[in-house]
Amino acid sequence: MNKIIVNGGKKLNGEVSVQGAKNSVLPILVATLLVNGVSVIHNCPYISDVDATIKILRYLGCKVTREEHTVIVDSSTMCRNDVPDSLMREMRSSIVFLGGIIGRMGKAVLSTPGGCEIGLRPIDLHLSAMEQFGAKVTTENGFIICSAEEKGLCGTRIVLSFPSVGATENIILASTLAKGTTIISNAAREPEIIDLADFLNGCGAKIYGAGDSTIVIEGVSRLNSTEHTVIPDRIVAATYLIATAMTGGKVTFKDVIPSHLGPIIQPLRESGCLVFVKEKNVTISSQKPLKRIKMIRTMPHPGFPTDVQAQMMALTTIADGTSVFIENIFESRYKHIGELLRFGAKIHAEGRMAVVEGVKALNGANVKATDLRGGSAMLLAGLSAKGKTEISEIYHIDRGYEEPEKVLEYLGADIKRMKVNEETTTE
Ligand code: UD1
Repeated sequence: MNKIIVNGGKKLNGEVSVQGAKNSVLPILVATLLVNGVSVIHNCPYISDVDATIKILRYLGCKVTREEHTVIVDSSTMCRNDVPDSLMREMRSSIVFLGGIIGRMGKAVLSTPGGCEIGLRPIDLHLSAMEQFGAKVTTENGFIICSAEEKGLCGTRIVLSFPSVGATENIILASTLAKGTTIISNAAREPEIIDLADFLNGCGAKIYGAGDSTIVIEGVSRLNSTEHTVIPDRIVAATYLIATAMTGGKVTFKDVIPSHLGPIIQPLRESGCLVFVKEKNVTISSQKPLKRIKMIRTMPHPGFPTDVQAQMMALTTIADGTSVFIENIFESRYKHIGELLRFGAKIHAEGRMAVVEGVKALNGANVKATDLRGGSAMLLAGLSAKGKTEISEIYHIDRGYEEPEKVLEYLGADIKRMKVNEETTTE
């Protein structure tokens, strides 16, 4: 078990590039199943969710190799249509294998994903979409069996009652090789949906309108091998922008897609930070003391992302005044609050609402990462706090951030990763 130790109070300064997007690379790796050939995916971050995805691809019979940040998948050898429970549990978003496997094999057998740290994560929209394609959906001993082996998947019109990211991805994956045309209404509009469609269109798919609420997919009979570069991770960029704001520094983030960061830049400016956008670079110059952010409401894109709620809350703990959060996407995504209180933060939460009263400064604390983004909020609090912070259970953070301690150290933080047994011998 590793820990991260931070000695807070150092300003972040400099220039840095941002890793590839977790929420793009996972569905794109799954989409390589549809290719029945070789796909070369560049800019894949070293994060444990990518490792878990590669493990499942290999279990399914694909040949997967990795050269630095490039992952090469040969899915021509795919020979299975099931994912065992142990592998499903390794990754929260493994339900996206449903569309990839059924799209390629006509049948998919997956264990039910269940809940996780941030909420229940139901999959009714995913399953109902598969039924609308003509698949038969049954459950047996905790496994979901989706089968369209007799007639194959048939394009259809699917109206989502909520613009679910995962369901939109599964529908795109299942419809790419389906017979006829599929129309998704109220589709998710996240940039990662566009990246998935760009990869598939690069292989010869016919997907129109990704990024809008209506997506049209004309089924094709086969896909060709291609190369694709994953977009930069807007959530990681947001996390480090907030880190800079909280430490009082100035950092330029290179080769990002500034329009993806719009929902983050606006509240950062409200907090008093200066944020400059120049072509593919975003520079933040913190102006401490930070001001309160009146209201953060998490919403589907282009609203404020739920994946940055915990980090922005960390910022408001040291902002002057009272900030209010409303978490609209997940019903229990406030587990980080208990840990932020250990730093001396003042937060009151009830249901989906949290009220943060800013304090002058946080004090270093022993905390744990409660989930991926909640864990990154601990990093941010630790960087700005007075004294030493120890963060345990950092495997949550490693699911989505590539070597965060190295990125932050490069920018000037006093931070290191420590093995727990190493620590017990040194203290
Ligand atoms: C969600 C986030 C995504 C984030 C990811 C990981 C949104 C819209 N989605 O994606 O930005 O990167 O978590 O934190 O912000 N739902 C159902 N039935 C379903 C599917 C979903 O009721 O079949 C509900 C969920 O309970 C939840 C909401 O829809 O309240 C969000 O779901 P969805 O977008 O599907 O979640 P993810 O794909 O995990």
